[in-house]
Amino acid sequence: MTDLLPKIRRLFLSKFDKEPLMVQSPGRVNLIGEHTDYNDGFVLPAAIDKVIVLAMAVNDAGKARAYSVDMNESVVMDLDDLHKSDKHWANYVKGIISETQKEGKKLKGFDLVFGGDIPIGAGLSSSAALEGGLLVGLDRLFKLGFTRKKMARIGQLTEHNHVGVNCGIMDQFINLHGEANKVLKLDCRSLEYDLYPFERDDIKIVLCNSKVSHNLADSEYNVRREQCESGVEVLQKYEPKIKNLRDADLELLEAHRNEMDEVVYRRCKYVLEENQRVHDACRDLEKGDFKSFGNRMFQSHQGLSKDYEVSCKELDVLVEIAQDQPGLLGSRMMGGGFGGCTINLVEEAFVEDFKETVSREYKSRTGIKAEIYITQINGGTEITEE
Ligand code: GLA
Repeated sequence: MTDLLPKIRRLFLSKFDKEPLMVQSPGRVNLIGEHTDYNDGFVLPAAIDKVIVLAMAVNDAGKARAYSVDMNESVVMDLDDLHKSDKHWANYVKGIISETQKEGKKLKGFDLVFGGDIPIGAGLSSSAALEGGLLVGLDRLFKLGFTRKKMARIGQLTEHNHVGVNCGIMDQFINLHGEANKVLKLDCRSLEYDLYPFERDDIKIVLCNSKVSHNLADSEYNVRREQCESGVEVLQKYEPKIKNLRDADLELLEAHRNEMDEVVYRRCKYVLEENQRVHDACRDLEKGDFKSFGNRMFQSHQGLSKDYEVSCKELDVLVEIAQDQPGLLGSRMMGGGFGGCTINLVEEAFVEDFKETVSREYKSRTGIKAEIYITQINGGTEITEE
């Protein structure tokens, strides 16, 4: 990561021959609270030490000229004609431009070179990192005056309107508000948040990348959202103040479970339980009780796998292997699901053994070579001097 800044800056200089503004934008983990954000619930993410670095400067060409280092692709974008690109990454850039313009802000031409070390499709939110980094850069270049909350909303709208994923606000929010050595408990309705210290040298956050990314992820994500909404419609008849699953409780859900599809019932049950787990897990953190915290991670995984059905065979195998390892406190799939990473809390002394055993067993059970990362909690997106 440390080499990335000079590398991206050099590439920018060689392409555009002027000094760029440099922005560093992190990926994220989520400790607990999955698929709760779009139900107006609670999440507990943190920004990590895997980043996208962006080099940006204003140009006189009146167009956005963007180069993705990792894809080795360039796209020139007309600021008045932001039609969909066949290059997936370009649609994030176009989306950010378009949503910024919808806010009544005037953009001029700019040049962009970006690249990073957040694995794509691994559930670490490389897309939110691109969105957040771009917004912070544009905000500085064109003095847009956006707050960080506003930027998070613009990033989310970019996903909805230009990428086709009706995501919640978690990824964009943590990208822009993360702090080093802290996890952030976010109320996804009010966008109020609390930071909890998370800096135990004896406990590591270990990510196991299953290396699968099923293309179900986007379509099934939107289906889950609809299923939650249809559960809300049933409950609303009895409690009109219920706007979202956030407002419901398990008692009410149980009372009306026969009036909804069994699948819808299970989706709602998972969300209500997971929201409660976030609150309970934060109390564990206050007490320094990582054993209890870890148990909740397992429960979260069970719910995601059995009731919410967004896991997959490979993620389940990773959690199964992990749970038998010494020093393992908790393990669960992370992010949208259907592939990507599991997040594991592992006692430091056991981390090397954990890595070795998980790699070996996962390879023998699935034929796939996992990638394993030990992560550090870092700050959110920032403009950086080299
Ligand atoms: C994806 C979405 C988030 C959130 C998670 C699941 O990362 O972008 O908004 O819904 O899935 O918790």
